[in-house]
Parts: sequence; structure tokens; C-alpha cells
Amino acid sequence: MSLSTDFIVIGSGVAGLRAAIALAEAGADVTVLTKDKASESNTEYAQGGVAVVLSDDDNAELHEGDTLVAGAGLCDERAVETLVTEGTKYIKQLIEWGTEFDREGGKLVFTQEAAHSRRRILHAHGDSTGAEFVRSLIARAGRESRISLLPFAATESLLTADGRCTGVRYLDPILRYPREIFAKAVILCTGGAGQLYQHTTNPPVATGDGMAMAFFAGADMADMEFIQFHPTALSLECAPRFLLSEAMRGEGGILRNAQGERFMGRYDERLELAPRDIVSRSIVAEMRRTGSRTVFLDMTALDGGFLRHRFPKIDETCRAFGLEIARDMLPVSPASHYCMGGVRTDLWGRTTLPGLYAAGEVTCTGVHGANRLASNSLLEGLVFGARAGEAAAMDNGQLPVASSRPKAGNDVEEDSRKPVLSTAVRKRVKRVMWERVGILRDRESLQRAIAEFDQIAKANLSTASRNFVTLARLVAAAALWREESRGGHFRTDFPNQKESFRLHSIQRLGQPISSSERVEPGEYSR
Ligand code: SIN
Repeated sequence: MSLSTDFIVIGSGVAGLRAAIALAEAGADVTVLTKDKASESNTEYAQGGVAVVLSDDDNAELHEGDTLVAGAGLCDERAVETLVTEGTKYIKQLIEWGTEFDREGGKLVFTQEAAHSRRRILHAHGDSTGAEFVRSLIARAGRESRISLLPFAATESLLTADGRCTGVRYLDPILRYPREIFAKAVILCTGGAGQLYQHTTNPPVATGDGMAMAFFAGADMADMEFIQFHPTALSLECAPRFLLSEAMRGEGGILRNAQGERFMGRYDERLELAPRDIVSRSIVAEMRRTGSRTVFLDMTALDGGFLRHRFPKIDETCRAFGLEIARDMLPVSPASHYCMGGVRTDLWGRTTLPGLYAAGEVTCTGVHGANRLASNSLLEGLVFGARAGEAAAMDNGQLPVASSRPKAGNDVEEDSRKPVLSTAVRKRVKRVMWERVGILRDRESLQRAIAEFDQIAKANLSTASRNFVTLARLVAAAALWREESRGGHFRTDFPNQKESFRLHSIQRLGQPISSSERVEPGEYSR
């Protein structure tokens, strides 16, 4: 028996929860599907904070300017303007809803991160900002009787009929078999794909399946080549790549090589607070130069009491691995962290597939361009999650819920394709991505990666495995197409930025890569 609701939201990070609240406020019934428990998303792990114009010495033009500079010529200026101007309103609303940002003497405390011209980063419980967002948004969503949260319900594919997204097929968490649910529209908020890489700061759920589902359903993907590598993930043989927040460098942390030298001066005059792509490449160069597999984050000049208070989660995690942050050199190396590209949307979350909206890291709104400014992602999820919810309600309010048996976006033989991502495929793809589609890329490495992905794809793969390898191929193909270096994409065979590539890469099922100068607001059909 199939189910129906007014709207389906896939994902329960900041974008998904905010979209669901906007839909419920518009009087619609919403079902939120999430493949793990509701709190498990990239949002939950965001440490550093949220960038927002709220301090006396700041203004929207400054935040906009910093975001555009970080984006290296590929931001959509209207998207950035929307982010920085509306961001303040939505953060104030979040505070009204009970989000507790850190304060001193009742006043909000702002920290510094790389490439920001002002101290404008709000944080919560020191280094648990994302978790505080999730806590307060789940509490707020819980007060809306129209929102139903369905945890442990992994979406397999988007359903389409007559060129429109009409619902999703998901794995029923109790019955353990695929079910279909229909709606007036679907809002995709499934987050990023950091798990494509062997080393990542992202949780295991960040496999990018929403991106792959949208691609198979016919939506355009943009700028998939732009992956942000975070410079300072804890690098111990025995530990996952736990994020050591950029805010640690913002508070005065120093990077040293294996010989104990502070090395960033060799690479950039902004030292440890140079943009992330520069710091990550500098670390790789320094590790190669010194023949070491890590560099070190040195916080020893800072007071231990301050560090424990400011970074309690990081302190606790480092201690669990025998490291004292105020005393020890912390071994770090870069790890994949954020996807700037994704499902192409306009300024209201409309994708190129009618009935499908998207918000948050799964999208390419044009906010981040070729490189995301630190701490802009929670803000993006909040602002564009709300806008996608509002637009979906406005565009589709009068539509009936689809009832006919539609065609699945993943047009597959159901019985041969189980939803599980195989360990063998996961491991192989992650290794190839790290070695050949990583921080430094060139034509040969990318061509070899694509050949390997094509080889893997010949097998009779599960839906999840096919999604994973397809996504890897999309990143590699876009990286091969872009014969220049810009933002998070660095080609050793084309080390300079080229004006002729001030374009977005666009990928569409069954078509060769094309390019577009910009995304027009409202250009997509509803
Ligand atoms: C960090 O805390 O370094 C990560 C924050 C972000 O990615 O914006």
C-alpha cells in the first residue's frame, strides 16, 4: 500500500528541519525521512560555528565581500546577498526559538576564522554549534503537529511521472522492504558526500545519495569538481579523522612541520588563517618536503583552562586518544570536508526537475562558488532551507498529490538492487578518490579514476553502490573538464586560474558536460 502526504523532506540536518518548519507554518503536512536517527547529519558535527552579521563593527557588505573573495569568481552574487542579508533575521529567530549561543556578560561572543575580515562567528557550547542547531530545531519541529519524523528510513530513489518528481521510494525501517510515498513536492536536504574520500571529517551518513538520486531523476548537477578539504583533521592511525576546528587557529593555534618549524609563512602571508584550500595544499607540500605523514597543530601558547572551556568536545576527543591540547603537538592532515557543488537550484531551492526542491550541502545555490567561506554552511542551510520550504508551499499548494504509479528516478530492476552500499565498492571508490581526485589532480590521474569507476559500474551493483560510484564519476569528470585551478579545485597540470573557465560545470543524465555562466532566479519551472 502506498502512502501520501503534502510534502516530503529528505534529511534532518539544519536545511531539512528548517524547510519542514516552513512548510508546516504554511499549513501543510510534512513527512521528514532520514536514514539514521534524526540528529545524525553533517549539521550535528559542525564545530566552528555560524557566520552572521550581528556585531557592531560588521555589516552585510563586508560579509558578502569575504564570501565572494573566498568563492574565487564563481559565486552567484544574488545568492550571496540573500545569504548575508536574510541570515541575520533567521539567526535572530533561531535565538527566539531557544538556540543558546555562547555569551559573556549576556553578550554574544564572536570568534575569528580564516578569510573573514571581522570576528563574526557565533558558536554554541564552545565547539558544538551544529549539535545545538539540531537540538533546537528538532525541539521546534516537535511543536508542529503537521511534521512527522520518520527515522532510519533510507530513501532509495525519487519517483517521477510526466517529467515531475512525485514522491520517493524508501526502505521501511520496521518492515524492511521498499515502500512508496507520494507528495505534491519533495525537498531534498540530504547533505554532502565527504564519504567519497578515504579521509574525511564527515560522518558515515554523508555518502551523497541525495545528489545521485537527483541526478538519476533528471535534475542538473553543478560544479561537482569543487570539494573543500579541511586542513586540520586529527591524524592518528587508530582514530577517525576528527575535525580540529579552524576556530583553533582563529584563537591563535600555529601549524608546525615534523621538524617543529612554523611553515605557513613559506606559502601565504595570512599564515594559518589563509583560505582553507591554500592551507591544505601547503600542508601537503610540507608533508612531502619533510617526508612526514602529518604536520602538527600547536596550541601550547594558549591557556589550558581557556582551551578546555572554548573547545570542550575537541578536548574530550583528544584526551580519549592520549593527547592534551594545551600540552601536546596535535598531529593533523587534510581531509575532505564539504561539497561546494551539487544539485543546481535557483534562489528558492527549485531544481531543474519540477516538483523537486533542494537546500543545504546537497545543492549548488551559487553561494559558495569555488570555495566556501568558513562557517557559511549552517547559515546557508537555515536561510535556503526556509526559502525552499516557503517556495514549495507557494508553488504547489493547490496541486493534488500524485496518485498514479510513477516511474522511479532510479529505473532499476527492484529485486536485483538492494539499498546497501557494499563495503568493497565503498573502500575502492574512496581510495581512488583520495589518490586520484584529491587535493592535487591532473589529467592522467583523473582519466585513470574515471576508467576505474567505469569498470566498477559494470558489475551488477546495489542501488546505493551504483549511486556512490556514479557520484564519484561526476566529481572526477567535472574535475577533468575544468582545465584550470580555482578555489578548492587544483590541477597540477593547469595551476593557474583562467578567465575562460569562469563558468559553472553542468552535468545532466545522458548528456556530455556543458557549462553555464549563472543560475537565474525563478528560471526553473515549478
Ligand atoms: C570548522 O570548525 O573548522 C569547520 C567549520 C566549517 O566548516 O565551516
